[in-house]
Amino acid sequence: MIEVEALTKRYGAFTAVSALSFCVRPGEVLGLVGPNGAGKTSTLRCMAGVIPMSSGEVRIAGASLDADPVAAKRALAFFPDEPRLFEYLTVRQHLAFVARIYGVGPYEDLARRLLEELELADKADVLPGELSRGMKQKLVIACGLLHSPKVMFFDEPLTGLDPLGIRRMKDSIIRRASEGASIVLSSHLLHLLEEVCTHVLILKKGVKVADGTLEEVAARFSNGEAGVGLEEVFIRATGGTEA
Ligand SMILES: Nc1ncnc2c1ncn2[C@@H]1O[C@H](COP(=O)(O)OP(=O)(O)OP(=O)(O)O)[C@@H](O)[C@H]1O
Ligand SMILES: [Mg+2]
Repeated sequence: MIEVEALTKRYGAFTAVSALSFCVRPGEVLGLVGPNGAGKTSTLRCMAGVIPMSSGEVRIAGASLDADPVAAKRALAFFPDEPRLFEYLTVRQHLAFVARIYGVGPYEDLARRLLEELELADKADVLPGELSRGMKQKLVIACGLLHSPKVMFFDEPLTGLDPLGIRRMKDSIIRRASEGASIVLSSHLLHLLEEVCTHVLILKKGVKVADGTLEEVAARFSNGEAGVGLEEVFIRATGGTEA
């Protein structure tokens, strides 16, 4: 369960996210969409405790990010848009390190399965410098999934992956939600979001302009037309491409 109440993020005098509230229940996948600069990454970074909120409250699996940050962070995994890796740790050592930090216990079997699932098994002993961009992204995903998080935030998780990687990532997100995870997914790939998300939240200049199930949001912006897709909804809701 993810509960966000009046999340506000300011950078100096500039308000990037303004009093944003929403909830993601177990089994739900929320698509966070909006034009460039709308505040998606700022929102996810605040929700993951990577940068401080200016005000508001975030609860992850019941734990307040402010009052009980360790419990909140233990329950979540954040997959950032710019993955950072340790230059001098191999793929396998990354997994060992993450397992230690999160107190995962015996992790080797799960690590092996994740590397196989993400097609990294033959790269287990190489350093990040020898990985392609998509492989680095997959390593970050493997590290994030190792502690079996109940809550996951993905910032543009599909860019850089090959078609099979995208399909596996989609399947993996859907499977983890069906197992009870609460997931937030930010992406500009709206046709993919339509396949994965149960709900969508549209941001414009840091303000929520619509949220609900895909059907509810479509109904709100369809003007009575049938079969209006998320892309058309996005354009109508955000008034073109300006942020
Ligand atoms: N560290 C920062 N300092 C100052 N302003 C920032 C900082 N990070 C982001 N911003 C501003 O906050 C706003 C929201 O940025 P953010 O990265 O959250 O947008 P986004 O919705 O993720 O966009 P994109 O679709 O391009 O990834 C932008 O106007 C951006 O310039
Ligand atoms: Mg972003």
